[in-house]
Amino acid sequence: MTENQSLTVRDNRTGEEYELDITDGTVRAGDIGKIGKTDDDPGLAVYDPAFTNTASTRSAVTYIDGEKGILEYRGYPIEQLAEHSTFLEVAYLLIHGELPTKEQHDEWVHEITFHTFVHENLKSLMQGFRYDAHPMGMLLSSVGALSTFYPEARAISDPDIRHEQIVRMIAKMPTLGAWAFRHAQGKPYVYPDNNLSYTENFLSMLFKMSEQEYNPDPRLSKALEVLFILHADHEQNCSTNAVRSVGSSQVDPYSAVTSGIAALYGPLHGGANEAVLKMLRRIGTVDKIPEFIEGVKNGDEKLMGFGHRVYKNFDPRATIIKKAVDDVFEVTGVSPLLEIAQELERIALEDDYFVSRKLYPNVDFYSGLIYEALQFPPEMFTVLFAIPRTAGWLAQWIELVDDKEQKIARPKQIYTGDRQLDFVPAAERWAK
Ligand code: CMC
Repeated sequence: MTENQSLTVRDNRTGEEYELDITDGTVRAGDIGKIGKTDDDPGLAVYDPAFTNTASTRSAVTYIDGEKGILEYRGYPIEQLAEHSTFLEVAYLLIHGELPTKEQHDEWVHEITFHTFVHENLKSLMQGFRYDAHPMGMLLSSVGALSTFYPEARAISDPDIRHEQIVRMIAKMPTLGAWAFRHAQGKPYVYPDNNLSYTENFLSMLFKMSEQEYNPDPRLSKALEVLFILHADHEQNCSTNAVRSVGSSQVDPYSAVTSGIAALYGPLHGGANEAVLKMLRRIGTVDKIPEFIEGVKNGDEKLMGFGHRVYKNFDPRATIIKKAVDDVFEVTGVSPLLEIAQELERIALEDDYFVSRKLYPNVDFYSGLIYEALQFPPEMFTVLFAIPRTAGWLAQWIELVDDKEQKIARPKQIYTGDRQLDFVPAAERWAK
């Protein structure tokens, strides 16, 4: 690479040339704004709907190389974290930037474990939802409501107060998520059990009935732990961008995270694994697969759970999930849909249509099958995503709050409407 890290731009409107510095493979939008800037002209802007080619921040949280199929949290490969770590250790890593010492780990786990209970009034609030309320709607409302229980959370530059809210949120998400699930079933809400691990306690609050103590099969709590680790962060996606954008107004972290939950609620973000299940059910039997694949190739359908905006060779999370599928089905018994999924994958990985377009299974291809085997209805899938992603949202939020370069987010627009029309009062308009 040459020494000169700059870009020379010639504005053909004026003949003037500008030299823009290139730093980390980017030019500054502010430098582009100097092009053509006069007293009457605000200068050139960049038009990038959906921010597909715009870096909105510097970040040291998560690294993705889509071509090579690499995902790292704070520099640690996802494969190693999924195999050897726990969700709470990963959450610590994301939030604090490094792995905990034994003392830091024990204190972190203790803090999270002892903040799992929520105020009884929040329980009443949740009980006020209709019997058929979507659990994700309940979750986002309850997390938003938490800001009213902890008004001190508005002091976002106080590190101690900030820490307390982070602990509270990571601790209470499983409680709120489990209660949203129980609500739909008309079952009593189960209080947290502080003798259990993070994922065991979550399973207990979901499924415990009259037994004194609920002890889930360790293979199931481990599979959930792996799924939580895989979903803990994924750099500047739609929901993280929402948390950062709303957080840039300096609102409290409960409100900022609520905006992330709202973004995740949308089918384009958190809903693909449910679509995979629907697709597998629709195919129904293995002999119908060739016909289905033909439909995909003709452009009539999409092979849900395949393809990714960023990963173009393989999604490292999909490889890890496949291992978890085996563990879960060992406990729950094999789903008939698994055979269809495996056969679809086998055909697609050999078929030139998919190979030439770099379409590989993504994280959602198998996660829905696991969630279903664990007896979650599809409406719970995004809740299961939001619980671990809270750690990532909060890590990104702290980075935002501490970043001196950041200001309140405020994109530009290209105005396409009318100008300077003369207003005619209603009585005159209607009289005509
Ligand atoms: N099935 C069939 N064809 C596909 C698929 C698919 N799943 N995905 C992409 N293609 C085709 C697409 O039609 C296009 O073909 P052509 O060049 O002939 O027009 C080509 O592949 C390139 O696709 P693209 O739309 O430019 O790719 P993209 O990067 O914009 O889309 C995607 C990525 C994930 C939206 C898309 O692959 C998709 O819709 N997949 C199915 C839904 C899904 O599984 N979503 C979950 C993604 S992982 C979520 C996460 O990371 O949290």
